[in-house]
Amino acid sequence: MTIRSIIAAVAGVILIAAIALGARSLIVAAPESPVASSRAMPTIGGPFSLTDHDGRAVTDADFHGRYMLVYFGYTYCPDVCPTSLQVMTDALDLLGAKADAVTPVLITIDPERDTAELLRDYVANFHPRTVGLTGTPEQIAAVAKAYRVYYAKAEQEGTYLMDHSSIVYLMGKDGKFLTHFSHNTPADKMAEGIRRHL
Ligand code: NI
Repeated sequence: MTIRSIIAAVAGVILIAAIALGARSLIVAAPESPVASSRAMPTIGGPFSLTDHDGRAVTDADFHGRYMLVYFGYTYCPDVCPTSLQVMTDALDLLGAKADAVTPVLITIDPERDTAELLRDYVANFHPRTVGLTGTPEQIAAVAKAYRVYYAKAEQEGTYLMDHSSIVYLMGKDGKFLTHFSHNTPADKMAEGIRRHL
């Protein structure tokens, strides 16, 4: 055995050990790789183009810098929508001046009947800052999809009601989803939930 072959053999052993160590560290590291975090959270909300209750074209960007308390409903709704809008009103009243940066928003899911004028008269029954939004059926379908809101016509003796999900969303100043309130959330609990994010 020459000196050179001994050096080569030693180098070979070191190389094999290094590969083995490297492989071991890879194996050890494997369970720590962020497999779970690659599962994306479902997004709620996003860009929209609609018409406000004064007939002006608006987008989500017009609300940036303010919080939005968003509800999807319609003015012909016999009970669910007025109840929810009243709870939103009461929650904001409970927060007083703290809620000055919160704009309550009603987005109609009945754009065929809910004109800007009708919405303007309707939202006047609730919190004075409430903004009613309508749009084309396509615009409404797009915003409802973005907020994962279900709605469907329910024909009834020559007229119709709208089946729809009843959820109140709190969106941040950047338009991003903060939290939501399920139907039947009392006003004080909603106020508490909003306050946490202001
Ligand atoms: Ni309703």
